[in-house]
Amino acid sequence: MRRDYPNLCKPLSIGGLTFRNRMASAPMGATDILADGTPGPRTLGFYEARAKGGAASVTVSELVVHPETDGSQMLHLSLSTPGQLGAFAYVADAIKRHGAVASIELSHSGQYAGTYMVDKKAKGELCQYGPSDGVRPDGLPVKALTEEQIADIVEAYGNAAALAKRAGFQMCMVHAGHGWLINQFLSPYFNKRTDRYGGSLENRVRLAREVLAAVRAATGPRFPIELRMSGSELFPGGYDIEEGCRIAQALEDLADIIHVSAGSYQFGFSITHPSMFREHGCNAHLAARIKQVVSVPVATIGGLSDPAQMEQIIASGKADVVAMARGLLADPQLPNKVMANRGDDVVKCVRCFTCMAERPITQTRRCAVNPLIGRELEGLEVASAKAAKRVLVAGGGIAGMKAAHTAALRGHDVTLCEAGDRLGGILNTEEALPFKHDMYELARTYERLCKEAGVHIILNQTVDAGFCDAFKPDALIVAVGSEELDLPMPVVEDAWVISIDELYLEDADPGNDVVIIGGGLTGCECALLMAQQGRRAYLIEMGPELAPDANIRHRPILLAELEAAGVDVLTGARAEVVTLKGVKVVLADGSERMVGGIGSSVVAAIGRRSRSAAVDALRDGAPFVRVVGDALRPANITFAIYEAYHAALDI
Ligand SMILES: Cc1cc2nc3c(=O)[nH]c(=O)nc-3n(C[C@H](O)[C@H](O)[C@H](O)COP(=O)(O)O)c2cc1C
Repeated sequence: MRRDYPNLCKPLSIGGLTFRNRMASAPMGATDILADGTPGPRTLGFYEARAKGGAASVTVSELVVHPETDGSQMLHLSLSTPGQLGAFAYVADAIKRHGAVASIELSHSGQYAGTYMVDKKAKGELCQYGPSDGVRPDGLPVKALTEEQIADIVEAYGNAAALAKRAGFQMCMVHAGHGWLINQFLSPYFNKRTDRYGGSLENRVRLAREVLAAVRAATGPRFPIELRMSGSELFPGGYDIEEGCRIAQALEDLADIIHVSAGSYQFGFSITHPSMFREHGCNAHLAARIKQVVSVPVATIGGLSDPAQMEQIIASGKADVVAMARGLLADPQLPNKVMANRGDDVVKCVRCFTCMAERPITQTRRCAVNPLIGRELEGLEVASAKAAKRVLVAGGGIAGMKAAHTAALRGHDVTLCEAGDRLGGILNTEEALPFKHDMYELARTYERLCKEAGVHIILNQTVDAGFCDAFKPDALIVAVGSEELDLPMPVVEDAWVISIDELYLEDADPGNDVVIIGGGLTGCECALLMAQQGRRAYLIEMGPELAPDANIRHRPILLAELEAAGVDVLTGARAEVVTLKGVKVVLADGSERMVGGIGSSVVAAIGRRSRSAAVDALRDGAPFVRVVGDALRPANITFAIYEAYHAALDI
C-alpha cells in the first residue's frame, strides 16, 4: 500500500533490534506503584495502551536505580521482595505482545530527589545528593556525592539494567537530561567539583561514561542503550547547544541512540514539556544540530503529535525517530492511525498539562482528551452493544460529540442535535486564541470522527420535551452546555460591555483599552490575548490570586505569559460599577480606584452556569437519561469528555 507518511512508517534497526516504525513512546511515569516500588496493574495498562496503539517502543519510567541516595515514589527494581521482578516482567510482556520494543528508563534525581513526592513535607526528610554542596531553590541542602557513593551509583545502574533485561526488557534509556543527576554532572551550572568528575568537559562527562559502560557491561550486546540528554540546558549558566554537541560526541561510542530533549525540569519546565504557548516541535532544532555531529541515530521530542510535521522531521533528516509523551496519552492509537493513513483522525494533545497536574493531587494520571488515561482497566474496550439502541444526544459541544462518537462506535443508532449552526460548542471560541488552537482543532477532529462513525447530525435543532416525545429515543444524553453569567454589578447606560462569546465568536472589536472583569482562567486568557494583540489590558480579580481554576502545571506558565505580555493586574479588587470612564473598583484596604478610562471596553469573564432549565425539561426524555459536561456543572474539558465517554458506555 502507499503510505501517507512513508518516513514515519519506515522500520529502523538499532543495536540489533528492529523498531517497526519511527514513532516512540517517551518515558512517562505511571502512578499505580505499589509500596515495594513495583508497577501495579494500572501501570501495566498504562504502558500497554501505547504498545497496542502501534508505538515502535514503549519506555517505562522512571526506575530509580539507587534508592539509598535518591528518594521518590517511583519504580524500584530489586530482588528484595518476592514478586518484584515478576511485576516488571508482566509489564515488559504487555508491551512486547503488541509488537513494540520494551524499554525502561534508568534514573536518578540527584539533588532534586523528592521532587515527585506527593507529600512535599516528606522530601525534607531525605538527603539530597548532587555533584556539589549547595542549597536547592526550595531551601533544602544538597550534599556532594563522594567518589565512593558515585562508584556505588554507577554499579547500581549496571545492576538495575541487568535485572531489567532479566525481566524481559529489550533495551533501556539512561536519563542524562532534564536536570536530573547525570545532567547535574554534565552541567557547569550544577557541577562545581574540583576532582576528576568536575571542571573540564572530559571530567563532567565521566559519570555519564561510567554509567553507560556499566550498563553495557551488565547487559551485553544486542541490548540497545538510549541516551536521553538535553541538547541545551537553555538557562543562564547551563550548557548551550554547542556544548551539547560536544557532550553527545563524547558519549556516542557508548550509546546506540541519542534522544535529544531540552532544558530542565526545574528551570525550564515549559521548554522541556513545551506548553501551549510554544510551537509544536520547538525543540527539534536541537536534535537536528546534534544529528549533524554524531553517527548514531538521533531521536527528537517536544510538543509533537501532528503526523505531517513528524513526517517532515524524519524526511528532512532532522532526526531518525520522533518520540512523544503527551501526544500518545491523548491518542495512544496515533501510530496505528499513521500506519493506516488515518492521520486526520488523530486526537491531538491540547497541552493543558492535566496529565502532569493530576498526579500531585490524586496520585493518578488523567488526560483531558482521553478518558482512559490512568484508568486503562476501566473501559478500555468500547464493547459493541448487545442491541443497537436509538440514542439521542442533545448538544454538539465536546461532551455531546464524545458521547455520540462513543455510542456510535458501539453500534447504536445515534442522532446528535445541536441548537446552533455548527458543532463544537465552547471549543469554537478557542479559534480566536492562537495559543488554544489545539482545543479548537479538537472540536474539528471530533466533528470528523462523529461523521465517520455514522452519527446523524442535525444542526439548528433544539431538543426539548416535545422533540423527545416525537423522536422516542431509548437513551438520551443531555449535553446542552452552559451560558455566560452577566456582570453582577451596576453598569451605567451606554457603557461598552462585551461578553466573551461576542468577543471570540462574533469578532467584536474591543478597542485599544480593555478592562477584563474576572481573573479566572478565561479572564486571564482573554487579557493575554488582548495584550498580545497590542491592546492595553487591565485584569481585575476579586480573589487574592489569578487563575485559581488553572491546574498547578499550567498556572505558573500562564502567569508568566501574562507578566511578559505586560497585562495590568489588580487582585483583591472588587468591581463596584462599570461607568463610561472605566470600572470603579474597591481594593482590599477599602480604597477606590478607576481602572481603564473613557473609551475603554469592559469584557465580562466572571464564569458560566449550566443551562439547568433546558436540562430539567429533558429529565423524562427517554428511559435512559444522562446529563454530562457543562450541563451537569460548568467544569472543564477533562470531566466533560470523561463523563460523556462513560455515559455512552453505560447505554
Ligand atoms: C505525564 C508525564 C510524565 C512524564 N514522566 C517522565 C519520566 O518519568 N521520565 C522522563 O524522563 N520524562 C518524563 N516526562 C517527560 C516526557 O518524556 C517528555 O520529555 C516531555 O513530556 C516532552 O514531550 P511531549 O511534548 O511529547 O509531551 C513526562 C511527561 C509527561 C507528560
